[in-house]
Amino acid sequence: MSSPSRSGAFEEAADHRVELFTESVSFDRRLYRQDIAGSVAHAHMLADQNILTAEEASQIQSALEEIQLKIESGEFEYRTELEDIHMHIEHALIEQLGDVGRKLHTGRSRNDQVSTDFRLWVRDALDKIDHLLVELQRSFLSRTDLDEGTILPAYTHLQRAQPVLANHYWLAYCEKLQRDRERVADCRHRVNRLSLGAAALAGTTIDIDRENVARRLGFESVAANSLDISSDRDFAAESVFVLSMIAQHLATWADEWILWSTVEFDFIKLPDRFCTGSSIMPQKINPDVLELTRGKTSRVIGSLQTLMVLLKGLPLAYNRDLQEDKPAVFDAFDTVQSCLELAIPIVRDSQLKRESIESRLDRGYLDATTLMEYLIKTGMPQRRAHHAVGALVRRAMGEGKRLADLPLEAFQEMDSRLDESIYEVLGVEKAVQSFVSYGSTAPQRVVEQVRVWKERLEREPEYDMSCTTGV
Ligand code: ARG
Repeated sequence: MSSPSRSGAFEEAADHRVELFTESVSFDRRLYRQDIAGSVAHAHMLADQNILTAEEASQIQSALEEIQLKIESGEFEYRTELEDIHMHIEHALIEQLGDVGRKLHTGRSRNDQVSTDFRLWVRDALDKIDHLLVELQRSFLSRTDLDEGTILPAYTHLQRAQPVLANHYWLAYCEKLQRDRERVADCRHRVNRLSLGAAALAGTTIDIDRENVARRLGFESVAANSLDISSDRDFAAESVFVLSMIAQHLATWADEWILWSTVEFDFIKLPDRFCTGSSIMPQKINPDVLELTRGKTSRVIGSLQTLMVLLKGLPLAYNRDLQEDKPAVFDAFDTVQSCLELAIPIVRDSQLKRESIESRLDRGYLDATTLMEYLIKTGMPQRRAHHAVGALVRRAMGEGKRLADLPLEAFQEMDSRLDESIYEVLGVEKAVQSFVSYGSTAPQRVVEQVRVWKERLEREPEYDMSCTTGV
């Protein structure tokens, strides 16, 4: 059978390699649900406009529903000569309905059809990602009850820097994920615009009602320029950028916890069910899921690169190059979805090794900056205080002591007015207690923030995460 897209204008059938080279049904079959929903909406709009009869529209709807059932039960036959999912579904419709089926493609083209289907798919997929982000935030937040009061060394340059409450740490990830959610929501507006009606590129002479279709499909607006619509894949690139940022955040988390789970750090115990073994070293319990979370970030960023290069310099309007957008977008969504699905239980169920962390908190002079700020508050210029505390650290290191172990005279050598109150900021616990600024690890601030996050996440619905794969 020759492709239905080859009209009477062709003198010969396609070379068999062309069929294989140009087909997309092997991957765009994932759009079947959206394609059917779009066609049902289009048919009813055509009926509302008296272009089809109501009877024809409902025949089309029933036939499409049957086709959907066939696809879902695995009985539907895919054939490369039918190119893409749009042709497959239309062909099956015509097989069932004859000329009534042949009327469906009135006033539309595959160019606006594929864009509509894809937007619907991306919209659903973004919603799913958003739900997973909320669940991951809930996992981080659930840690705040488990790890209340625990202090962690925080790092810059991966060198011990200052002490923070573990709860401050968990909330840092809630914030990052919140920005991801904001990006998802913002991007969703630009995804959620109706393309259908642009037809091939110039619109149509048929009296269609695009607002009608938009309402039926839940689009929030109707894209205004047919030439723009046919060439617009900004929404695809943008959504994969949003996914790339999520992947970056997950990679940072994964990377930290890989380090934390080493004997050297010994900060965290990952649940065994999310670890893997070694085929040669019997003692190994490896954090492969975290490593792959970090590693798969490269695929997501790779998809972003694919899309940007694909779109670069394409002339208006539709070009077949655009067909290459889908594998990149599908892969990026699948990858981020699977990473999030695993991160949720790992974050929730890992155990912080409190004793091990605590036993080494005194190392690294985590209270040095707090001491410097104490001196500043006594009137010492910051640069002087910075230098002076550096010298005290050197002295303490030489003597194998903590700053809190130095005698009062050591401090009074810098400034004779200093008194015993200096010890109130020394030692990791006291150092943490002395923070005050908004956004800091000050215990009261962190308690407030935990409350803010609890309220915020309680307002979010509970999502059913049991069937999240395979949008
Ligand atoms: N399968 C195509 C795509 O994904 C849509 C078909 C448009 N084809 C065409 N020859 N105008 O972009």
